[in-house]
Amino acid sequence: MQDVMMGEPQARGRFGEYGGRYAPESLVEACRQVEETFREAWADPGFRAELARLLALHAGRPTPLTPALRLSEELGVRLYLKREDLAHTGSHKINNVLGQALLATRMGRRRLIAETGAGQHGVATATAAALLGLEATVFMGERDIERQALNVVRMRLLGAEVVPVTTGSRTLKDATSEAMRHWVSATADSHYCVGSVIGPDPYPWMVREFQRVIGDEAREQYSGVPDHVVACVGGGSNAAGTFAGFADTPARLVGVEAEGGAGAARGRPGVLHGCRSLFLQDDDGQIVEAHSIAAGLDYPGVGPEHAHLRDLGRARYVTVTDDEAARAVVQLARTEGIVPALESAHALAWVIRAARDGELPAGSTVLMTLSGRGDKDVSTLKELL
Ligand SMILES: Cc1ncc(COP(=O)(O)O)c(C=O)c1O
Repeated sequence: MQDVMMGEPQARGRFGEYGGRYAPESLVEACRQVEETFREAWADPGFRAELARLLALHAGRPTPLTPALRLSEELGVRLYLKREDLAHTGSHKINNVLGQALLATRMGRRRLIAETGAGQHGVATATAAALLGLEATVFMGERDIERQALNVVRMRLLGAEVVPVTTGSRTLKDATSEAMRHWVSATADSHYCVGSVIGPDPYPWMVREFQRVIGDEAREQYSGVPDHVVACVGGGSNAAGTFAGFADTPARLVGVEAEGGAGAARGRPGVLHGCRSLFLQDDDGQIVEAHSIAAGLDYPGVGPEHAHLRDLGRARYVTVTDDEAARAVVQLARTEGIVPALESAHALAWVIRAARDGELPAGSTVLMTLSGRGDKDVSTLKELL
């Protein structure tokens, strides 16, 4: 067991029985270098100061914690939103990417490789690459290229190469596989900037540490402990960063997955994309395709630390349907004047349902991370109006 809840993983990047570094030989060496560089950098006040400077000047941190007054009134709970939608590029993904882009320059790499589903991690990667004078190559499933077209234009404007992935379900899982495959042949000059708390060690730990800024800020801004801390879960990076700020408190941690991508709620142990975690599988252990209206939650697994938090009972994982998420977008838009990303709307949809069903008692306090803004989703949402 880890010494500190959501502290450093155990030896070889283990979170309980999950995590590890299941990768081909050449990537094992590359991961070792990333780990070494991250350990050094994270202990270096100069690196921390440079990252804090970039987060403040280029990403707009700290993001506000907004009391959702009219929606709270409707729901009968006191809801606070951690506004990652107001971070530059429109989601929390920039927090992790600025950290990894700085590491890439520290390692002398000239190019960032990334996978993207919703396009938010791709846009953040393209942005950081432009800012630091690096190249960016982003792998994206063909289906996501269609439904998140706005972000594809943004990436190309920023100078990134967007590589369409035509295999499998043509979504995030396949984009991740393709990015990893590509990295094998490019480790000498490229850094693989993984977008969530997934992948081989040290990524799940490192990405959580770069996203911890969400939870740390929220803890300070809330000044106290809310009854519930809620976030949506694709791979689980905005949730991990949020939970990390409250792991040592009595707050109940709730991760909300898409009904069709419920790795933590319904997955079984297995190995994919370099780590052991919980994945949706059939009886033969084959990975089952995920399906979600939210491209960023359309992933059949979850990061290994979430699997561990689930086993420990420290966090609970629940699911929300496409329909509930779409309705939550409209409800937030019309009560608070905020159009959330479909991913973030999953977290909200659970809050709405739990308040209605009495699972969140009247008057209880809920701090929810609003991981991104909804501009990218207008072509999906307009069909539902
Ligand atoms: C706005 C937004 N929220 C959430 C996610 C899911 O990722 P994670 O679970 O790593 O936070 C994504 C992924 O693309 C996203 O774009």
